[in-house]
Amino acid sequence: MSKAFQATNAVVTGSSSGIGRATAISLAQAGVERLVVHYRSNEAGAAETADALSDIGCDPILVSADLSLPEGRQALIQAAFDSLGVVQTWVNNAGADVLTGSAAAMDFEGKLQRLFDVDVMGAILLSRTVADRMIAQFDPQSNTGPASMVFIGWDQASDGMEGDAGQMFGPIKAAVMAFANSLAQDSGPRLRVNTIAPGWIRTSWGESTSDYWNARAEGQSLMGRWGGVEDIARAVLYAADPGNTFLTAQTIQVNGGFNRRF
Ligand SMILES: NC(=O)c1ccc[n+]([C@@H]2O[C@H](COP(=O)([O-])OP(=O)(O)OC[C@H]3O[C@@H](n4cnc5c(N)ncnc54)[C@H](OP(=O)(O)O)[C@@H]3O)[C@@H](O)[C@H]2O)c1
Repeated sequence: MSKAFQATNAVVTGSSSGIGRATAISLAQAGVERLVVHYRSNEAGAAETADALSDIGCDPILVSADLSLPEGRQALIQAAFDSLGVVQTWVNNAGADVLTGSAAAMDFEGKLQRLFDVDVMGAILLSRTVADRMIAQFDPQSNTGPASMVFIGWDQASDGMEGDAGQMFGPIKAAVMAFANSLAQDSGPRLRVNTIAPGWIRTSWGESTSDYWNARAEGQSLMGRWGGVEDIARAVLYAADPGNTFLTAQTIQVNGGFNRRF
């Protein structure tokens, strides 16, 4: 495998499971030397990610922080920059799970508020400060190129989807994607900012969903299958690749091609 990220450091928020874990592992396989494995409460999952990184030869730094809280965001920023020094790749992946676990029992307003606090306020307020730090670190004399920040959106956010899930995730992820595009405008040429917008990815909700949603996820992809976390990790690495210096302010949908006949 190419080692495009050799001798670089990275942070992946929400890397105790799912897309974040797959992204952290892929970054390690691509040569990242030190990586902050951020999580909120899934300590065992974060330790599993850290073990996988160590096996590859990447040095993991575990940081627990609730990104819906100012003190959590501050703690992550301090721990990340104190331990890594220079950060070349920052992936804003953390997102509230309101579909499985105890949060699934909350009403619409409670779920929307949770998503807003974590995915919107958390990601925006965290990444404004992080972007300032990454931009300040940029050395025009070096040939390492601009640093990179990647957000995770949702492919159906802009066009909309019926039902409570569409009315929650649509505005939430549309806000994330809109913010990322604006941050990109303020950050070039020293920091590249892009968004990966996944389609139906088989994480914990997909593992336990109904026959209807299973058929819909497969049917709405021109590739005729669920996406895997590795599909998204591969796209995040493309966006963040230090050699990909002409790619910024883009949203890339990774959904197997949306099948409009379904
Ligand atoms: N799966 C899909 O089909 C899909 C589609 C489109 C977009 N996405 C987005 O992709 C991202 C990852 O999704 P996933 O399916 O891999 O989810 P996941 O497995 O539930 O992982 C979510 C991560 O976010 C962390 N997190 C949750 N609340 C947090 C908080 N308050 N503060 C800090 N971290 C918090 C979790 O930490 P702990 O578990 O340690 O608490 C976990 O590490 C999310 O932003 C999601 O919205 C997913």
